Amino acid sequence: MELVRLLLVVVHILGLAVIIGPFLFQVSRKANFEPKLMQIGALVQLVSGLALVGIREADDLPVDHAKIGVKLVVTVLAVVTIFIAARKQRAATAGQAGPKSPLPFLHATGALAILNVFIAVLWT
Ligand code: HEM
Repeated sequence: MELVRLLLVVVHILGLAVIIGPFLFQVSRKANFEPKLMQIGALVQLVSGLALVGIREADDLPVDHAKIGVKLVVTVLAVVTIFIAARKQRAATAGQAGPKSPLPFLHATGALAILNVFIAVLWT
């Protein structure tokens, strides 16, 4: 079980990279956003985070429920904002929305993911 938990932590760290990496890569863009990887990363964080809570509970390891609750809300918001960004980008590509319309949602996702890194590390 310990090996499974550690492998899940690896997946969780890679998921973090897949949200924040592509966000920083396109942070100064004003159009033609690419939300795909960030969508995958946000879903990976949600699923791997919940699995980590489950495995920690199963192994009788401590779980800070307040911290996890806050991280869960922040992650759900990140999932919602990146899916809105993707929908807006599809509309922009089809000429039915402004080219800049996905920007606030994409930036919100990046900021929420970075906020969760602070919560994960500083909330002890
Ligand atoms: C964007 C979303 C997220 C980011 C960036 C993130 C980031 C991190 C980071 C950096 C760590 C390692 C912290 C350390 O070991 O000091 C961590 C651990 C952890 N995260 Fe997340 N997290 C996210 C979402 C979630 C969610 C949604 C949950 C659960 C609902 C969750 C549950 C956990 C748990 C249980 C650990 C401890 C793993 C262990 O050492 O056994 N995370 N997270």
